[in-house]
Amino acid sequence: MKSIVILISGRGSNMQSLLAAAADGSLPVCVAAVLSNRPGAAGLETAGAAGIPTRVIDHTLYPDRESFDAAMAEAIDAFSPDLVVLAGFMRILSNGFVERYAGRMMNIHPSLLPMFPGLHTHRRALEEGVRIHGCTVHFVTPTLDHGPIIIQAAVPVVAGDDEASLAARVLAQEHRIYPQAVRWFADGRLRLLDGRVEVAGRQAADAALLSPTLPESD
Ligand code: GRF
Repeated sequence: MKSIVILISGRGSNMQSLLAAAADGSLPVCVAAVLSNRPGAAGLETAGAAGIPTRVIDHTLYPDRESFDAAMAEAIDAFSPDLVVLAGFMRILSNGFVERYAGRMMNIHPSLLPMFPGLHTHRRALEEGVRIHGCTVHFVTPTLDHGPIIIQAAVPVVAGDDEASLAARVLAQEHRIYPQAVRWFADGRLRLLDGRVEVAGRQAADAALLSPTLPESD
């Protein structure tokens, strides 16, 4: 069975969706550890309660990004994971770190990339007046919130939405697509070709793209 290490910085709801899927057998991976750069990350408690080993690598204790990344890599490699899963991990990573885990590190981002990389994606989506918003799981490359796209889910932006309501609608989809992306990895179905991701047995991927929550046009 493939093993994964999950990196978090806060709430950890995506981590929780992965733990739940691993626990109920729908995600055939062993979650070797949950690592956080913040000692107070709420997700650490959730992981601990589920019996998952946790480690804190507090970035404030390191003089620069490189030394923090080196400590984080050491902590990750102690568990020899097949895949590193960034789940709300709020640190920009050095190129060396990204290259070390090339093709075996995923991130989830709350927008339909390449739209709205960076922070405050829901606010920016509302400001731009987009009608469709969503989330993306991608392999991590040195460019922030960029990299080969594995799966996306779309949600409508509806009248009266504010940042919180839109975030909640997107988050529900995040919890659906992240376990799916990791499952594809675990099943050996993901292949990188010319900087794009191929999913063996593409029908499943296409089906996942069509969010059931899209409204009918009027
Ligand atoms: C999610 O919206 C994720 O897409 C983004 O950070 C948020 C983390 O939420 N990268 P959680 O910690 O998984 O609840």
